[in-house]
Amino acid sequence: MPEPRPVLVVDLGAQYAQLIARRIRECHVYSEIVAHDAPLDEIRRRRPAGIVLSGGPASVYEAGAPSVDPALFELGVPVLGICYGHQLMAQALGGEVAATGRREYGGTALHTERAGVLLQDLAEREQVWMSHGDAVILAPEGFVVTAVTDTIPVAAMEDPQRGMFAVQFHPEVAHTPRGTAIMKRFLYDGCGLLPDWTPTNVIERSVDAIRAQVGGGEVLCALSGGVDSAVAALLVHRAVGEQLTCVFVDHGLNREGEPDQVEETFARHFGVPLVHVKAADRFLAKLAGVTDPEAKRRAIGEEFIRVFEEVARERSGARFLVQGTLYPDVIESGSRTAANIKSHHNVGGLPDDMDLELVEPLRDLFKDEVRVVGSELGLPEEIVQRQPFPGPGLAVRIVGEVTQENLAKVRGADHIVRQEIRRAGLERETWQAFCVLLADVRSVGVMGDGRTYESPVVVRAVTSEDAMTADWARLPPDVLDRIASRVIAEVPGVNRVAYDITSKPPGTIEWE
Ligand code: XMP
Repeated sequence: MPEPRPVLVVDLGAQYAQLIARRIRECHVYSEIVAHDAPLDEIRRRRPAGIVLSGGPASVYEAGAPSVDPALFELGVPVLGICYGHQLMAQALGGEVAATGRREYGGTALHTERAGVLLQDLAEREQVWMSHGDAVILAPEGFVVTAVTDTIPVAAMEDPQRGMFAVQFHPEVAHTPRGTAIMKRFLYDGCGLLPDWTPTNVIERSVDAIRAQVGGGEVLCALSGGVDSAVAALLVHRAVGEQLTCVFVDHGLNREGEPDQVEETFARHFGVPLVHVKAADRFLAKLAGVTDPEAKRRAIGEEFIRVFEEVARERSGARFLVQGTLYPDVIESGSRTAANIKSHHNVGGLPDDMDLELVEPLRDLFKDEVRVVGSELGLPEEIVQRQPFPGPGLAVRIVGEVTQENLAKVRGADHIVRQEIRRAGLERETWQAFCVLLADVRSVGVMGDGRTYESPVVVRAVTSEDAMTADWARLPPDVLDRIASRVIAEVPGVNRVAYDITSKPPGTIEWE
């Protein structure tokens, strides 16, 4: 299968580029992100079918503001400038950008004066989302101004002959209700593309690529029970069959029923050879007396590596290791300077001296796209729709020591939360819903005729697009009520339920 020609999103700062790329893919056109300083040759080499210049926080007049090579506009490839990208295009092609002295932020009424190509599906007046200081005050020669607002004279402009389009507002955000219609006009009319890409197109290409990379070599894959490693494993299995061995390290920190489900799905259902390492005792021994969150994460990460190394040694022929790296990880790993808030443990922590080459079949995909591929490969819904679960598992959902007893409490409560969320049909709209046990806190309660003096659990449910930011989920009171009643009635040692109403930031999703 040939590589699709991507629409390249040039990242000019801020967080918009990822969102634009996702929106383009939702229009069934393949899209990738490039840094704004990527050499023109690199852009040419990728044979883009279109280019989108993203928004960004800078002013085009600032020293060192991100910019693009003006020759980019001469490639004969259609370009859409968004916000800062709109201003860059205006500036590069002979228009005029000025500081209006007024920052415009939020919902604004857009007045469409000419439908042109881009705005043909819009009413004369539409709500759009703005976030800018500078503004284009004069469009370059050859352009027509298609829309204005009460504050700016060039809110949208285009020169369809040259394939140049630009808007001051953000069509990619949900606050611009007709934003997708604008994107589609750029992609289908401006670039002449067909909506024929879906995440499943990746399957064939990646099966070929895996075969080429791996040849006749042995491949190892650590399954976590989550959707990413499961889909990665199935793709590799489809490519190289029995050369793949999956390893499930059961650290004893999983959710109710998870180890059996992984075994059932892979070994029995798909016939993928699975090494199931039951290592709960080893992990619990390492966690004895440990209460510091980072110390817990380190202990689990290290022990995981030891177990995995042992398996790899037994299969000394293995030369490759499958990882479920996703596209956002690929984008972020280049530019990440963020402080280390939590030491995330996944297989990424494996030591270099393992001498295994990585196979990363999901590195072009976003999480929701991985789910689509998983369904296509026949992965059961329970795994495909599974909410993210941290590598260190329930250990980081016990504030206090990780003991069998505390694990039983948090696992029992988690099971109830997930059941009730599923029953209420809320599983897809919540990013995650789970419980945290405050193991060392006690409060007084009354049950039947007796006094109780036991631990609370905190229910945490959030909505999010990508886990970078999150909002606490407005769960219906009757769902919360059922969760609370059942947890207290069914989980021994828990006598109180609280609900966490902290967003991220300032909170994080997990407590540790
Ligand atoms: P925080 O708590 O940092 O979590 O807001 C963001 C997302 O990452 C998940 N998470 C992890 N995932 N290994 C993982 O693979 C980890 O160590 C880990 N810690 C947190 C968390 O569940 C949320 O979805």
